[in-house]
Amino acid sequence: MALDGQPHGTTGAGAHRRPPAWLSEAVIYQIYPAAFADSNGDGIGDLRGVREHLDHLAWLGVDTLWLSPCFASPFGDGGYDISDYLTIAPRYGSNEDADALIEAARARGMRIMFDLVPGHTSHEHPWFLESIRNPDDDRYIWSDRVGAPVRGWIPNHAGRGGYYLANFYAIQPALNFGYARPDPAEPWRQPVDAPGPRANRAALREVMAYWFDRGVSGFRVDMAASLVKDDPGSVETGRLWAEMRDWIDREYPGRILLSEWGDPKTSVPAGFHADFFLHFTGTALRSLWDNGTGSQGSWPAIGPCYFDPDGGGSMGTFLDAWREADKAIDGAGHIALPTANHDFSRLTCGPRTRDMVAPAFAFLLTWPTLPVIYYGDEIGMRYVPGLPDKEGSQLDAEARQGSRTPMQWDASAGAGFSTAGAERYYLPVDPAPDRPDVATERADEGSLLHHVHRLIALRKQTPALRSGGTVRVLHRDYPFVYLRGESHLVVVNGRREPAGAPWPASGPAPRVLAAHGVELTASGIQAAGFSYAVYELAPGAQVSAYEDADAATAD
Ligand code: GLC
Ligand code: CA
Repeated sequence: MALDGQPHGTTGAGAHRRPPAWLSEAVIYQIYPAAFADSNGDGIGDLRGVREHLDHLAWLGVDTLWLSPCFASPFGDGGYDISDYLTIAPRYGSNEDADALIEAARARGMRIMFDLVPGHTSHEHPWFLESIRNPDDDRYIWSDRVGAPVRGWIPNHAGRGGYYLANFYAIQPALNFGYARPDPAEPWRQPVDAPGPRANRAALREVMAYWFDRGVSGFRVDMAASLVKDDPGSVETGRLWAEMRDWIDREYPGRILLSEWGDPKTSVPAGFHADFFLHFTGTALRSLWDNGTGSQGSWPAIGPCYFDPDGGGSMGTFLDAWREADKAIDGAGHIALPTANHDFSRLTCGPRTRDMVAPAFAFLLTWPTLPVIYYGDEIGMRYVPGLPDKEGSQLDAEARQGSRTPMQWDASAGAGFSTAGAERYYLPVDPAPDRPDVATERADEGSLLHHVHRLIALRKQTPALRSGGTVRVLHRDYPFVYLRGESHLVVVNGRREPAGAPWPASGPAPRVLAAHGVELTASGIQAAGFSYAVYELAPGAQVSAYEDADAATAD
């Protein structure tokens, strides 16, 4: 399968760039490699395990698999502490296993994305081992002037002494990409084009080229905003990524970068093909599904979210943020919307049980954002509270391990994840007696897995439903009703209480493409609790917004 080449713009000219067509049609699926499938019985997931489940993923319809880091690492932060960017961690397999996975995916029309961690390495990376000894090395950020311990500056006890700047945990020294506001009086504040920062930019391109040449289709970019330090408005960091984008468009057209920045209105115009709405910036994502509510995350509650079983939420916060970002992006890329990820709680969390989340998937798969499904969310795996720290997963009050438990493949004791004894599992399997699993749900047409399967298939068959494209909001908030491409009407009710709205279109009856708890009656739309529907309007139908509607248009 050929990768689509794409026209590209000039440096910084976001408006001239367009994402590759495949990305606009993609449904991305995030895999946490240690927890997905263990092929050799050591209790830890691996690349061969992923390969052995590709047929299932192809059936589900997800077409782009993003793997959290699977590179050599001491695993002090779950592999986000890399000691060799060019070697698959032995526990996950070999570089040949990566080749085999990429090839097996390609044969099924699927793509593989890896995780790029550009801002820091492990403290065991050879670059850092050199830097702690050699006072002339400036690949990292060094100061000998920081007296008392200062947040982020870590004392170095080897050769050159002094302090290095950490990017996240102390074991993750920040690579030196310079400062936006250099200051000769503080010599560690180097300009962005000093030799160290330039060497690091070149190294980033080498890492990407290595995996592009082996066939990956892109990278999710970890902490993408963190590169240039003291960078008001992220202007210099944006320039750095614009340069990377120009290089990709030139050398690897059709490959993509999806940032963990959390501010698509800034990052996509700078050069990323897509960026996430995330839990840690703004409230757009949490206003939809506030997965971390209560004791299960350290994120302050922001009031009821739209997909709160008790209702009381509003689409307003999301719509405002989405419109602002969509306008700034102006067709140059996408806003990615995750169901969850390895850093925050799953969609099925707290009071929101798995029988309640199908409408959230209906929204995810019909709104013009780029859908990203976190492994297991499609069967309603829950966030498992109360687990111990695993490889740095416990981050202050955030128990990220609750979202990293083994994928549940079948109803056996080990959930089909591994043949190892349970004590060797990466993390315990969810102990809930009614935990969901793939095999049981595949056999049940009414299961969440089948809802997700049908919704993905519908999205694939229906160009009007894909990422980008137009949308008009006709009714908010319960039920949320919107029109895609002037032809497809979507109804979503995210709460337990039923909700109604008038039918907004004139003309003959629509075609029902998907309906779960929604009926069209003489008095209009009747949406049961946790329901959704997708209709194709009769040709020529006229659509009118209701009084409280809130028109929005993309593109
Ligand atoms: C990102 C990752 C997170 C990791 C951190 C440091 O936020 O998603 O898991 O701990 O970066 O690399
Ligand atoms: Ca294994």
